[in-house]
Amino acid sequence: MDSANYELILPQLDDSLDQNEEWFILEHEGEYKKVKSHDYEQIYRVPGLYEDIFYNRLGCKSPNVVCDLLDQEMRKAEDPDQPLRVFDFGAGNGIVGEVIKEEMDCDLLVGVDILPEAKEAVERDRPGLYDDYYVLDMSCIDEAELGKFQSYNFNTLVTVAALGFGDIPTRAFVNAFNMLQDDAWVAFNLRDKFLAEEDNSGYREVLQTILDDSFSISQEKRYCHRRSIAGDEVCYHAIVGKKLDNIEDVSGLLVG
Ligand SMILES: C[S@@+](CC[C@H](N)C(=O)[O-])C[C@H]1O[C@@H](n2cnc3c(N)ncnc32)[C@H](O)[C@@H]1O
Repeated sequence: MDSANYELILPQLDDSLDQNEEWFILEHEGEYKKVKSHDYEQIYRVPGLYEDIFYNRLGCKSPNVVCDLLDQEMRKAEDPDQPLRVFDFGAGNGIVGEVIKEEMDCDLLVGVDILPEAKEAVERDRPGLYDDYYVLDMSCIDEAELGKFQSYNFNTLVTVAALGFGDIPTRAFVNAFNMLQDDAWVAFNLRDKFLAEEDNSGYREVLQTILDDSFSISQEKRYCHRRSIAGDEVCYHAIVGKKLDNIEDVSGLLVG
């Protein structure tokens, strides 16, 4: 990657701002802009900016935490040596895909993101990492797309830092889950507040409903995903488990 051709200024922010309300000042090509921290469209356009802000400055650990937990659980389960066929959902600019490729025996890696800028950033910064990468909204896929994804025979779904906060809604997560082979590994993380009773993202209800019949959790871990711009710890849960069956009859609970 080229050396940085931008300047990043992190302001002194009030700690009452939520994760998706934080912002910073970006100077790029002679222009100063206020950028929201979840404005990935703008962030991916600048080479190295996503890595700089979230990983170097705010200490994001999630790709390693989620992938390490998945790796540990696969080893414990002593699954027969089947190479992974991974669906990286909300793949962004490929940081998670890179960890998977480095740490695991991966036969196939397919990414999906809703933003064309994410795909462009992968092609620019990590060319060749994914076998295929699609720009689409998984909450409204048609039959032809569904068939195409099912034919990959994914045995692993990984989705990191992408559920909730106006990002991937429950409907899209359920669609992705239902495209996997039965017995597939599922690894994801969620902000702790999405599992709290007062939350309205829908994730807590969907998780509670699918446990036992469709999804079996093998390991869960609360950890610091990253610091906020104000310097506080932002806590997430990493969850790893196995798909038992398709998720049915949850349409009343779905958001998005
Ligand atoms: C914080 S980024 C995480 C990227 C990557 N997983 C990582 O950990 O570096 C969240 C990503 O989810 C993507 N996203 C949001 N809503 C989505 C949707 N409905 N379908 C697919 N991707 C979505 C965003 O465009 C963004 O690239």
